[in-house]
Amino acid sequence: MNEEIPNLPNYDDSSLDAAFATLAEEVRGETASLVDVEAFRLRWLGRKQGRLKLIGEAWLKSAPPEARKPLGMRFNQLKQQIEAALAEAEAAPPKRTGKAGIDVTLPGSVRAPGIEHPLLKTMNEIVRVFHHLGYSTALGPQVESDFYNFEALNFPPNHPARDTQDTLVLAGQQAKPSRDRLLMRTHTSPVQIRTMIAEAPPIRIVVPGKVHRNDAADATHSPVFHQVEGLCVDHNITFSDLKGTLDHAMKALFGSDVKTRFFPSFFPFTEPSADVQISCIFCAGKGCRKCKHSGWIELLGCGMVDPAVFASVDERRVAIGGQPAYDPAKVTGFAFGMGVERIAMILHGVSEIGQFYSGDMRFLEQFA
Ligand code: PHE
Repeated sequence: MNEEIPNLPNYDDSSLDAAFATLAEEVRGETASLVDVEAFRLRWLGRKQGRLKLIGEAWLKSAPPEARKPLGMRFNQLKQQIEAALAEAEAAPPKRTGKAGIDVTLPGSVRAPGIEHPLLKTMNEIVRVFHHLGYSTALGPQVESDFYNFEALNFPPNHPARDTQDTLVLAGQQAKPSRDRLLMRTHTSPVQIRTMIAEAPPIRIVVPGKVHRNDAADATHSPVFHQVEGLCVDHNITFSDLKGTLDHAMKALFGSDVKTRFFPSFFPFTEPSADVQISCIFCAGKGCRKCKHSGWIELLGCGMVDPAVFASVDERRVAIGGQPAYDPAKVTGFAFGMGVERIAMILHGVSEIGQFYSGDMRFLEQFA
């Protein structure tokens, strides 16, 4: 420690006061942000190299006899100031320094990494299967007009087919023409219409999204749920393409052992229509409680795009100044739609749909 010894020009009272004021200021500056208490103690009070000792020696050596007492008193005061600062620093809790103050052997606070919500994860898995087949993602609004949600999909106003999708409508729409009234979309199928109005064939889209129905919540129903829709339109698209595509998709999602079968069904916007069933993944088709002893689980709706849908699309394309592009004599297609919750429940053995929306960490952590 080769600290400079301050110079003391004179031994009269005012010179002494000034010199000790400078030293007191130095001490105060160091104690204001005292980190290493022991280093501070050594620097000032060290027995051999301490600053008080060195300065004391230097100043006393050439002091005239009458200056010894005032010098000594001032040194004592300075020493008390240093000792008080040391006592205070030792009473205070240790400062964290990253060097001496932290115990690196303590376990750190572990922050759980976030994960995809199981519904989003399932939805992304479904979408990815179709991306690999060359489909691209399309999205649409959740607040939809009657035209896109129903009319263009061949649900005429007041047609009983509308009763299959109990609809949440927006208030204050009565003054508008029926097709312009707003509602919460009951399925992702309106995005079929939006896409075909905007683009000519060929079309291959998957549509993940949220849908709304005025259904009472129970173990398997929720008024807000999710679907993934698909639409493929081109020349020479046949029902075999539909079967092959969905058979592949179900194997990709549930494992290559699953079988699919197509049951006649009805949707206004597809003709013919089918419900797709997969062989029960719990009992491999033997029959169990989960499949109600049938060996099959019903999973999604599908069918060939109804020519009436192509007609509405072309009518609208022309009405907004475009060209017709969906002549049913030249263009065919298929569509399908599946419920994400239902698939996630089957994949993960979840029996209450409400678990997905509860935000309960004990449930969600199982998917980490
Ligand atoms: N939109 C139909 C539903 O929600 C499902 C579906 C989509 C059926 C596409 C056929 C084709 O019930």
